[in-house]
Amino acid sequence: MTVAYGQQGAIAILTIDNPPVNALSVAVRQGLIDGVKRAIGDSAIAGIVIIGQGKTFIAGADIREFGKPPQAPRLTVAIAEIEASAKPVVAAIEGVALGGGLEVALGCHFRIGTKRTQVGLPEVKIGIVPGAGGIERLPRLIGLEPALKMMVSGDPVRADKALALGILDAIAEDDLLAEAVAFAGRLVAEKTPIRRLGQSLIALEGVDWRGLLTTSRAGAAKTNRGQISPQRVIDCVENALTMPFDQALGETIRTINELIPSEQAKALRYAFFAEREAGKIPDIDSTIKPRPVRNAVVIGAGTMGGGIAMCFADAGIPVRILESSTEALDKGLARVEQNYHDMVQKGRIRAEDKTKRMGLITRAAGYDAIGDADIVIEAAFEEMAIKKEIFARLDKVCKADAILATNTSTLDVDEIAGATTRPESVVGLHFFSPANVMRLLEIVRGAQTSKEIVATSQALAKTIGKGGVVCGVCHGFVANRSRGPLTREASFLVDEGALPQQVDKVLYDFGMAMGPFAVGDVAGIDVGWRVRRSLDATRPKDQRYSPTADRLYELGRYGQKTGKGWYRYETGSRVPLPDPEVEAVILQSSKDQAITRRAISDEEILARCLYAAINEGAKILDKKIALRASDIDIMWLYGFAFPRWRGGPMYYADTIGLAKVYETVCGFHREHGALWTPSPLLQRLAESGKNFTGT
Ligand code: 3HC
Repeated sequence: MTVAYGQQGAIAILTIDNPPVNALSVAVRQGLIDGVKRAIGDSAIAGIVIIGQGKTFIAGADIREFGKPPQAPRLTVAIAEIEASAKPVVAAIEGVALGGGLEVALGCHFRIGTKRTQVGLPEVKIGIVPGAGGIERLPRLIGLEPALKMMVSGDPVRADKALALGILDAIAEDDLLAEAVAFAGRLVAEKTPIRRLGQSLIALEGVDWRGLLTTSRAGAAKTNRGQISPQRVIDCVENALTMPFDQALGETIRTINELIPSEQAKALRYAFFAEREAGKIPDIDSTIKPRPVRNAVVIGAGTMGGGIAMCFADAGIPVRILESSTEALDKGLARVEQNYHDMVQKGRIRAEDKTKRMGLITRAAGYDAIGDADIVIEAAFEEMAIKKEIFARLDKVCKADAILATNTSTLDVDEIAGATTRPESVVGLHFFSPANVMRLLEIVRGAQTSKEIVATSQALAKTIGKGGVVCGVCHGFVANRSRGPLTREASFLVDEGALPQQVDKVLYDFGMAMGPFAVGDVAGIDVGWRVRRSLDATRPKDQRYSPTADRLYELGRYGQKTGKGWYRYETGSRVPLPDPEVEAVILQSSKDQAITRRAISDEEILARCLYAAINEGAKILDKKIALRASDIDIMWLYGFAFPRWRGGPMYYADTIGLAKVYETVCGFHREHGALWTPSPLLQRLAESGKNFTGT
């Protein structure tokens, strides 16, 4: 039975049992209606408790049912049945009540949780609106402002906050079911009036609700640029404020029905499942147990090393930093302290959090003192000889079950592992800058990396709040390698006739957080210059190369840090301003390369930049460096702020149609040469009418 019916004294207990997360499938919806009807019809029953089996109350509607023809009964019908009950209904919430799960709980007359409870309406994140009365009921329960915040952000709130807001009436100390039954018993005994949110009013006295909605619209337009669902949530909230309950709910149902098949909602659902898929490695199952990581050592106190140390400290794991000189370590620790200081200033953490976290970051006295480390992450200079020397030393001093990780972004993890006598313990953990902020963690599985180390790396990623995606070894791994061609084409486009601001605007309007030139100014033109020099020896002599960025480097235009790069920056500002000096450099560079500049359309810019990345992504996929197309997409969502509502570059290619993408790539190949050699996988899929993601 998906909803089991039980009884304790005069209280009926409806237990939802639909693993893994008690999603509201058709059987659950029907089961709830049947259970409530049975309890209402039984004169021996005075109250009802609804509870979830396992560690979840209800995770919401069954997302896998979306896109299929809806099956009766609708969730709204089940909730209306619950709310109408003349016998008090109590939701007993263990773990999460999300989306339709919270909507069920709001249809109940009272709610009791545990310390582990989290409640939220995350529908906006999958491109839809809460469609079963949450929009209408939540403001009635807790007031407009906090309800609006929860629904527009989609972020859940924890038990203590839910209690303070009034979403929970009580938090059970120990046995949730027993306390919920006792709670229901008291309601019956004390004849506590039933609270039906659907019949109450939203408290709006003294509330500037029009102002709140306007501010909320503007905020969502900024934080979720291009995404439709937050605006539609606000539309529905406005209806809830201006229309009777049933009419507003009718409009909400119309809205959710319209949004479910929309391109954005499809892409966001794809991203949801892609995230979960990324955690699954075909040859690693739950029998492979991750090792505990109780302490860490980071080698190198540069920007990257410091950021990595912060990741551990933020997760409450003690971390030591090892540096070759005291000065470098002092400087690194000062930088970490400054970062935490800035976070306190911006209100992101409290002063006591800073003290606690700084307390977890200490100095390692030397290699001999790090033998007990559970994990060592090397974040030293990007040079093979240096890395090999470090790993040979680690091999000598580290305990047998230590994880030896390198944060290299380009070097061969297998060669680094070869410097040890235990290559199975070596893994690449590639953080993205700033390491304490960026969500992506590439887990680079070397030829000999053991399954246990991979599983430990995945578990560690979760612990430190990262999205870990496993990939194989190749130059640049998956994320940077697939993005490289985008930057390359952006430079060529500028040499051919575009300007940085035009290219950046096209990608910004597409939904990227920043265009490639603005990113270049953040990352540092000097950094790009060093990477290009490291590739000089291997770059074929006849391969097209844009020297324009090198000209900027030679002028000392390193990007934001020097106030000048592809753009110029006013003192203290990060706003990129077009610079005539840069335009002059670009025009001269085109001339030097004997290129006749031409007008370049926005369409060409978008296709050149994105298809170059997609073609490279396909090559990586074909070589099985990435396990699946969706892993590449997740890397772009986490690492490069690709608009989530477009799914990711590979999914985006599927929505365009691979036949069209392939044809365009072939056209660019004819026009621009070998760098555009089409991926054989792209060709195969295009010719067989298939796509990358199987969607
Ligand atoms: N529908 C279908 N499957 C779901 C699901 C849902 N709502 N929520 C989770 N799952 C599946 C996952 O895909 C995963 O399946 P898998 O094992 O085959 O990969 C499994 O349940 C476990 O999920 P997680 O790996 O994510 O487990 P966690 O413990 O890390 O997280 C969770 C659990 C917090 C519930 C998280 O899964 C989550 O956030 N789920 C989505 C919640 C959501 O968006 N709810 C709103 C749905 S829309 C709605 O309710 C509309 C309504 O207004 C009408």
